[in-house]
Amino acid sequence: MKTLVLANQKGGVGKSAVATLLAHYFAQHGQRVLAIDFDHQGNFSKPLRTSQRAAVATFTADMLMTGNVPALPHSHFMLVPSDRALLGLERQPTQHTPFARSLRAFLAAADAQFDVCVIDTNPNPDIRLIAALASADFVLSPIQLNQEALDGVTALLNHERVGIRKIKAILNPKLQLIGLLPTMVEATPFQKANFVQVIQHYSTLMIPIDSQPGNFARIPRRSAIAEAQANGEVLWEMKKTAAREAWKETEPSIARIASIVTGEQTKEAEHAVAA
Ligand SMILES: Nc1ncnc2c1ncn2[C@@H]1O[C@H](COP(=O)(O)OP(=O)(O)OP(=O)(O)O)[C@@H](O)[C@H]1O
Ligand SMILES: [Mg+2]
Repeated sequence: MKTLVLANQKGGVGKSAVATLLAHYFAQHGQRVLAIDFDHQGNFSKPLRTSQRAAVATFTADMLMTGNVPALPHSHFMLVPSDRALLGLERQPTQHTPFARSLRAFLAAADAQFDVCVIDTNPNPDIRLIAALASADFVLSPIQLNQEALDGVTALLNHERVGIRKIKAILNPKLQLIGLLPTMVEATPFQKANFVQVIQHYSTLMIPIDSQPGNFARIPRRSAIAEAQANGEVLWEMKKTAAREAWKETEPSIARIASIVTGEQTKEAEHAVAA
């Protein structure tokens, strides 16, 4: 099982929307998917629950860290949903190491039953994010193309507690940064200029879709994506023309990321992280 964590300490950048698209995409392509929602806001749980595509575990995501959980039933698409109890974990610092160990043991036990685990995280640099990154294979960082988000990239790599360099060095050397995924991309001159700026500054962290220079993975801003998220619909099954167009623009990026996670292709931004 390959574990992918969606992470960015910035709120509202599209982590949960991308997690949802990826979870459905993996399931649709025959992967056995375990979805875990570590955000008490539940914006990954809600659309998956509403879609009725995923079986919902009888326990919640906080319990993966706080205690023994029963074995998961045999389902090809399983959601371990969010709960408000996730908020309390950070306030138990003496338990943080056991929490991270407990999650690692759970993922190890689920290894034979699933091909891919997608973990959505909260935007605070707390024990939930640390525990997820400490046991993951891959991390993907959705970002928005504004100055604040660009400044946030430094924190993503270098934050003293949850920075990817720190996690790799201390907790999890196998963690690979797939890269930055610009989301809610619009064709405004301002965003185009910022896209060029991101590419110039962080070209090694971008995710090439193909061999065409400058063709990097990105998610456009489309109301159909927000609607799919709000209504628990699968974007590519929505009837509206606008949804079909949104999926046409989004699919190459989602397919590329999925192929990296399942190991069909490799791309690491590792040299940039190691530098
Ligand atoms: N590509 C997109 N186009 C249009 N709307 C989007 C897109 N991606 C996400 N949204 C909408 O933007 C809002 C924020 O997205 P989302 O919840 O995925 O962000 P997040 O990073 O998970 O936020 P948080 O940090 O609070 O967990 C949601 O209402 C979502 O439906
Ligand atoms: Mg979210």
